[in-house]
Amino acid sequence: MFITFEGCEGVGKSTQLNLLKEYLEETGQEAIFCREPGGTSIGEQIRKVILNPENTEMADVTESILYAASRVQLISQVILPALKEGKIVVCDRYLDSSIAYQAYARGLGVDLVKKINYFAVENCMPDVTIFLDRSPAESFRATPGDDRMEQETREFHNKVYEGYKAEIGTSNGRIVAIKPDFDRNITKQMIIDVLRERGAIK
Ligand code: TYD
Repeated sequence: MFITFEGCEGVGKSTQLNLLKEYLEETGQEAIFCREPGGTSIGEQIRKVILNPENTEMADVTESILYAASRVQLISQVILPALKEGKIVVCDRYLDSSIAYQAYARGLGVDLVKKINYFAVENCMPDVTIFLDRSPAESFRATPGDDRMEQETREFHNKVYEGYKAEIGTSNGRIVAIKPDFDRNITKQMIIDVLRERGAIK
């Protein structure tokens, strides 16, 4: 089973990924956790180029291709081998981030971004995607971080959120929106319930 997590910046994604990891360990379910961009040695090098705030001249298409390149590396080196071994794979961000950030917020459009991501779209789509549904205005994080994406304008991040919302409607139920509670354990339980209902975890 291939599970991905999505959401805007500062919505508590990392916290929830850690809580899911704990739950899977406690219940003896073998899983691997990875993140995008990165998750492989080559991917982490690509990540540095993408997120370096000094790279202000990066073209939007370059950005989209770099995210896709990191993704293809992760798919071939980590995700597909683990799925073949019957492991649960949980990825922090995946294709839907490219749709929200590059297609909608950058304005490249869904068709172009899907073309750029042909190998990810064709070979390896998640079984279920958890979208932590919090808008930038409601974000748990008060101050923006210092990487190239986090330094984007509020307007950009609002478009990311709208992009995710649009994507949910076209995902045939694959993306499940969960409104995070202030109590992280309540959110954790909502996520586990959805993943169990979908048969993605026990
Ligand atoms: P990261 O520090 O991992 O962000 P977060 O902790 O919020 O997940 O940085 C990844 C950044 O890259 C984040 O701003 C989202 C962005 N991103 C894209 O724009 N497109 C993509 O395809 C992916 C995977 C991430």
